Amino acid sequence: MWIDTPVTRFLKIRYPIVQGPFGGGSSSVELAAIVSNLGGLGSFGAQHLAPDRIKDLVADLRERTAAPFAVNLWVDNADAAMADFDAQAFARHVEQLKPVFTSLGLDLPAFPNRFGQDFDEQAEALIEAAPPAFSFVFGIPSPDILKACRERGIVTIGNATTVDEARAIEEAGVDMLVATGAEAGGHRVSFLHAADAVLMGNFSLLPQVRDAVRLPVILAGGIADGRGIAAALALGADAVQVGTAFLACDESGAEPLHKAALFSEQARQTTLTRAFSGRLARSIRNGFSEHAASDPGAIAPYPAQNWLVRALRAAAVAQGRSDLIPLYAGQSASLLHHHSASELFGALVAETDEAFRSAAGASRNQYPPGSAARSTT
Ligand SMILES: Cc1cc2nc3c(=O)[nH]c(=O)nc-3n(C[C@H](O)[C@H](O)[C@H](O)COP(=O)(O)O)c2cc1C
Repeated sequence: MWIDTPVTRFLKIRYPIVQGPFGGGSSSVELAAIVSNLGGLGSFGAQHLAPDRIKDLVADLRERTAAPFAVNLWVDNADAAMADFDAQAFARHVEQLKPVFTSLGLDLPAFPNRFGQDFDEQAEALIEAAPPAFSFVFGIPSPDILKACRERGIVTIGNATTVDEARAIEEAGVDMLVATGAEAGGHRVSFLHAADAVLMGNFSLLPQVRDAVRLPVILAGGIADGRGIAAALALGADAVQVGTAFLACDESGAEPLHKAALFSEQARQTTLTRAFSGRLARSIRNGFSEHAASDPGAIAPYPAQNWLVRALRAAAVAQGRSDLIPLYAGQSASLLHHHSASELFGALVAETDEAFRSAAGASRNQYPPGSAARSTT
């Protein structure tokens, strides 16, 4: 039966279906709890949260579900280019964005004390709160952090975009990994290579990762229905991580503007862009991403660009400006049609059952038709 895999056994969940974490406010406790209560692994992206909020978050999640769930963090805090990013560099980038701030009726932002959270402080809070699982991207936490997770019974889940990264995650003693193909929505989470140099699709990535490591492998990227789940499992995955399809559901924390775009014709065209955060991410093409493509030098390094875009986001949303906000989406967004997370989860399970049933039927009856007769002659 397809639901019994090393991932379901290790995590003590019923179905090998992970709801992908969403950083930046697009996760919700409600969505993660629904998925966990239905027997998948709900996740919450906590990359943007201050350490004390992470403790509250884990308490909230525990209140909503007795089943396992994951909390997700970004391991590295800043790109190397941030070392030289001073008030002058900030002012130059603000100047580039001046027409956007002005069109939204916003004052230009002042140089902040900090652009993002400190991973070590976040990890300390997470370990103290001890969620059932800790997934992480953009690197591997220190041996001390991994040891503390093991001692507290927190299952660790790394993220790889290449075979080298999968091997490094295994060598570090992490419990399982997510292999993320270039189809996936959101950031390319590469950490040993430049993100744009290693854009492997899942049909190439998964079998190679499978051959290289013994860890349980969860496949992420472009999986939006039961056909995708069945294909991933047939190709060697022990579970799947579904992002965009859950992001589009009413219960996620994404803006209604973003969800509307996911269900629109616009979702057929995604692009990999640094425009919204300074790091490469898959998003629906819009005015902001197209403008940045014409002038990549105008994009500040992560996390400064992320901070700048967040500074204009609330006003852009309030004014219905979907051309100015990140519309993160994977390449299968055009397949979406569920607005309810529990309906989506039920459909994923039923469709996967059906895909395996019809594959079994096809092999009994021989495919292509007539091949049995030909093979006997
Ligand atoms: C809006 C958005 C935010 C995301 N944020 C994170 C994150 O903070 N951490 C993470 O591990 N993955 C993040 N992801 C990736 C998803 O968890 C998931 O792996 C990915 O969406 C799977 O590909 P799919 O969108 O094609 O289903 C994000 C994806 C999206 C669309």
